[in-house]
Amino acid sequence: MVTAYTHEPFTDFTKEENKKAFQKALTYVNTKLGQEYPLVINGEKIVSNVEEKSINPAKKAEIIGIVSMADKQLAEQAMQAALQAFETWKTTDAAYRANILFRSAAIIRRRKHEFSSWLVKEAGKPWKEADADTAEAIDFLEYYARQMLELKNGAPVNSRPGEQNVFNYIPLGVGVVISPFNFPLAIMAGTVVAALVTGNTVLLKPAETAPVIAAKFVEVMEEAGLPAGVLNYIPGSGAEIGDYLVEHPKTRFVSFTGSRAVGCRIYERAAKVQEGQIWLKRVIAEMGGKDTILVDCDADLDLATSSIVYSAFGFTGQKCSAGSRAVIHQDVYDEVLKKVVELTETLIIGSPEQADTYMGPVIDEKAYKKIMDYIEIGKEEGRLMTGGTGNAEKGYFIEPTIFADVKETDRLMQEEIFGPVVAICKAEDFDHMMTIANNTDYGLTGSLLSNNRDHIARARKEFHVGNLYFNRGCTGAIVGYQPFGGFNMSGTDSKAGSPDYLLLHMQGQTITEAF
Ligand code: NAD
Ligand code: ALA
Repeated sequence: MVTAYTHEPFTDFTKEENKKAFQKALTYVNTKLGQEYPLVINGEKIVSNVEEKSINPAKKAEIIGIVSMADKQLAEQAMQAALQAFETWKTTDAAYRANILFRSAAIIRRRKHEFSSWLVKEAGKPWKEADADTAEAIDFLEYYARQMLELKNGAPVNSRPGEQNVFNYIPLGVGVVISPFNFPLAIMAGTVVAALVTGNTVLLKPAETAPVIAAKFVEVMEEAGLPAGVLNYIPGSGAEIGDYLVEHPKTRFVSFTGSRAVGCRIYERAAKVQEGQIWLKRVIAEMGGKDTILVDCDADLDLATSSIVYSAFGFTGQKCSAGSRAVIHQDVYDEVLKKVVELTETLIIGSPEQADTYMGPVIDEKAYKKIMDYIEIGKEEGRLMTGGTGNAEKGYFIEPTIFADVKETDRLMQEEIFGPVVAICKAEDFDHMMTIANNTDYGLTGSLLSNNRDHIARARKEFHVGNLYFNRGCTGAIVGYQPFGGFNMSGTDSKAGSPDYLLLHMQGQTITEAF
């Protein structure tokens, strides 16, 4: 008997004992930096000819780990291992697979601060964000294990006299899981274990900038009893092995989370039926966002202010759910703008290793340059209220930046920046706010701050986003509570952490026996 699911609590860092425990874990992780991380193919650790350094984005000189990169040949070796492992893994009992997830959750929970410390070091996450990422990974393990137990006997269907019908879910085959850098533990783990617990085998290609945390997770799965070949760890270049595996005729499905450009490329390439391929590949593609916070004229303005600031700048704005644009009713525009700037200027920016840091670095040089370019665009399109500068000497730091008076069609209002930049736009009335909210190709998250019940009711029907929030910010969805996924160019709306999610990794089979 399994206990009911509840989400993993967040650590209260106002308590001195929790602070000390986290500091101790950071100190421990500091002693483990710079180690080699081989590929894992069929349970075998393989050091490849090409190794890449994973570095600390807050301290470029610090090497987190040295990671073997797969080329096409190694990717092919991993595919063969996964194909072979599928033949036995697909026949295992669902409860056996679910138990491996429960055990993995227990291992990570025991080493929670250690995992979070790796996130601090490799992804530049401040403590609170790292803690939430680790908690979400535990949630995915706990939640999907229970979901699989619910689904293991299929779904009820009718039978007639002289006929027995059964409807079961069976696995698909080998899945290629491609994960992003920004939730390098939670999203990577969630997408991997959803595929595994449903009876598929996996080739995991983590983000180039966060491969060490993925290697640590693969070790946990092994410790929890996952057989060799079921999960193969193959970091590598997206362009080289990503394309190869997406196009591979034996790939049965691709589970991708990342940018719109890469997601669209994968969707297109996976659609082409290759020679020797006997199925249509499934693609789960969860992509970017241009998420809006709307502030109505009668909203609680302090709540609106904190919602805008924390949704824009949490993890340096590097969340698909980040509130990267705020649309404020003209009656309260000046007041909210002033409060938002004031609150932003109190945020502590610096090393994510310090307990009180609110915002650390962005992930790498490419991201730094892209965001700084958008800041230049912002200076043309809007009025710079605060921030606007960066410093990439030691690490990739950019100030939290606010542009006011941006027009609804400006690039800052339309394009995903994925950094600490928020565009603020004035709306004439509620109708105008709703029009701006929906004038985007994306449709991931959105939030309305309002005390007007009619407006809330209208937004429920008209605000076209996968995750809609009222009177709070637009980040921080919780597994099993707020299933997460977006509309339109935000992706396939797979809804991670939902009761429907595992079904995307299986196929339904109907068996009828007449007697
Ligand atoms: P990215 O698209 O640059 O990379 C994601 C992954 O795709 C990486 O592992 C990368 O190596 C791989 N990749 C790159 N080229 C590839 C190719 N040709 N074939 C196969 N794989 C390839 O994204 P990122 O910078 O790591 O993450 C940020 C993006 O992810 C943002 O756009 C963000 O909005 C999005 N995101 C979306 C969600 C969601 O649930 N909707 C969640 C997190 C992040
Ligand atoms: N689950 C993450 C959030 O909602 C992406 O912010």
